[in-house]
Amino acid sequence: MKALAGLVTLGFLAAGAGPAGAVQSVPVMAESCALCHGMEGRSPAAMPSLAGREAETLFKALMGFYDGSRPATVMDRIVKGYDAAELRDLAEYFAHRPPEIWP
Ligand code: HEC
Repeated sequence: MKALAGLVTLGFLAAGAGPAGAVQSVPVMAESCALCHGMEGRSPAAMPSLAGREAETLFKALMGFYDGSRPATVMDRIVKGYDAAELRDLAEYFAHRPPEIWP
């Protein structure tokens, strides 16, 4: 049991060590968006897709949710979990995902 707890702790430490010492790695942050916006931002349903869209468009939308200038039901609350640099990273990340898996 003690050994198991040790393994879990090791796994936790390894997961926490993101690239370049980032607090949260971008793909990990982006996973929390997948629930609504689809895998890598490819939405299967009515939710807007994020994959392959202009980074600037996505970033402006996110900042609009942040300052309340863009109407939102949930995004206004979600963006509050990130700072501007992280929102920029997320916008860049989704802009570079392929919009279709099978072209
Ligand atoms: C609980 C579901 C949910 C989650 C999780 C979620 N979104 Fe959204 N997103 C929405 C909805 C709904 C909208 C439409 C605006 C609104 O009603 O808030 C939206 C709109 C957006 C838009 C604007 C798209 C457009 O074309 O207008 C962007 C960009 C966006 N989300 C990015 C993200 C990012 C990045 C994350 C992860 C950090 C995320 N979303 C997580 C539900 C979600």
